[in-house]
Formats: sequence, structure tokens, C-alpha cells
Amino acid sequence: LFGNDVLYYSELESTNNTAREIASRSSEGTVVLAETQKSGRGRMGREWQSVPGGLWLSLILKPSIPLDNLSRVTLVAGIAVTNALRNMGVDAHIKWPNDVLVKGKKICGILTEVSAEIGKVEYVILGIGINVNVKLSDLNDDIRRNSTSIANETGKPIDRTSFLASLLYELEQQYIRFKTRQFAEIVDEWINLSDTIGRNVRVTTPTLLIEGKAIGITEKGALVVLDKNDKKHEIIAGNCRYSD
Ligand code: BTN
Repeated sequence: LFGNDVLYYSELESTNNTAREIASRSSEGTVVLAETQKSGRGRMGREWQSVPGGLWLSLILKPSIPLDNLSRVTLVAGIAVTNALRNMGVDAHIKWPNDVLVKGKKICGILTEVSAEIGKVEYVILGIGINVNVKLSDLNDDIRRNSTSIANETGKPIDRTSFLASLLYELEQQYIRFKTRQFAEIVDEWINLSDTIGRNVRVTTPTLLIEGKAIGITEKGALVVLDKNDKKHEIIAGNCRYSD
């Protein structure tokens, strides 16, 4: 059961680092939680500001999947977080691959890390950062401009423990579905919760810049972008911006 083991710290470098250290000897569903992180990490080597009031956690998963299906797990996590936020009355949408936004402002980021051997996943660390009761005034100017929190959206601080319980429940439900159902069903739900499909996007990867219209998600969890020459690009990981 997700959250059966919760390791709680007042401060860590990064919950993802601690989760990695203990992953091989921990059971699936173990959670590492910290009130603050000294070097919280975001995607693409970015810093993640982890001030008090947020929920900074890493969930250890051990799915028997090939490494090239890893992006699927990321999409599943985005669905779970979005559902948990919507249950609180927050109008959350997923921006590919897994930023969760409210009216265009970021409320949650997800950092998926993996350990794999000969193409098979050994464990996955799902790092989830949610600005629950974060005071936006505690954030750096440029981060603050593009961020929101649950408290900021609903007008009052919420109980983080009950939100954590509801989040872990959603994660577990989605994970069970991921293991037992067709991935196409998950893609459909992801598309329903996302505001990316149908938008004009600029996607950057370490080696490419692709501009065009986001038109779908593949079996592997890649974003499909149609460029102006009607060429389709499948992007498995990258940074996406809306250009309209
Ligand atoms: C992103 O949007 O770039 C991903 C941000 C992920 C932040 C979370 S907070 C808990 C976990 N520990 C980390 O160091 N990062 C993730």
C-alpha cells in the first residue's frame, strides 16, 4: 500500500536522493517526505525551490516494465496529481510531460528518475513537488511569476496530511490501473486532463527544437508534434512551451 512506510524529515538535500539511496531495500510504495529541501531538483537540471508549506516527496515504485516505457509512469503520476488537486476544487491541467498548471501557473512539478539494468526497470523514483500552502512571496521573483499554490487558489491553507493521504490514494489507484489496463485508456484520460493537445508548441530537447501543433501521445508516452511541413515528430522527453 502506498504510504505504508513514510520516512519523514524536516530537511533533506533532495527527497529523490534519499529515496534512491534506500530504494533497493525498500518496498514499493515507500514515501520519502521532507518539509524543506536544500537542493531540490527540477527537470533538465533546474533548481526546485522547496520552501516550507509545500509537499516535497518521492515515491518508490518497482514496476516490471521495459525502460522505454518509463514515460508512461510519468503520465500516470500527472493524472493522479491532477485528480487530487481537482478533488480540492482546484482547476488543474497537465502540461506535457507532467507539469500541473492552474490558469497557466505551475502548482506541481514531477521528476521521474530510474535505475535500470539491461533495459529493464529496477526501480523508479517519482519525485513530486506540490505548492500546497507555499507563500508565493517566499519564492524567487521569476519563479513566483509563473507559480501558484493550492492555498493561493482556494483562499486558505489546507491540511497537508489529509491532502497527502488523498494524493497517495490517487497515485495508488492510477498505478493499479496502469498495471492492469490498456495504456490507451490512460492516454485518453491524460488527454482529457491536459491542455497541451491541440496547442501550438515549441519543444526543446538537448539536441532539437521542434515547433508545431501537439496532436497526440504515443504508446510509449511520447508527445506527437506536427510541424508546418506536416512532418510528425515523436518526442519522448523535452521542455514544452505553448506558443499561442
Ligand atoms: C520540475 O517541474 O522540474 C520537477 C520538479 C520536481 C520537484 C520534486 S520535490 C520532491 C522531489 N525531490 C526533488 O529534488 N525534486 C522532486
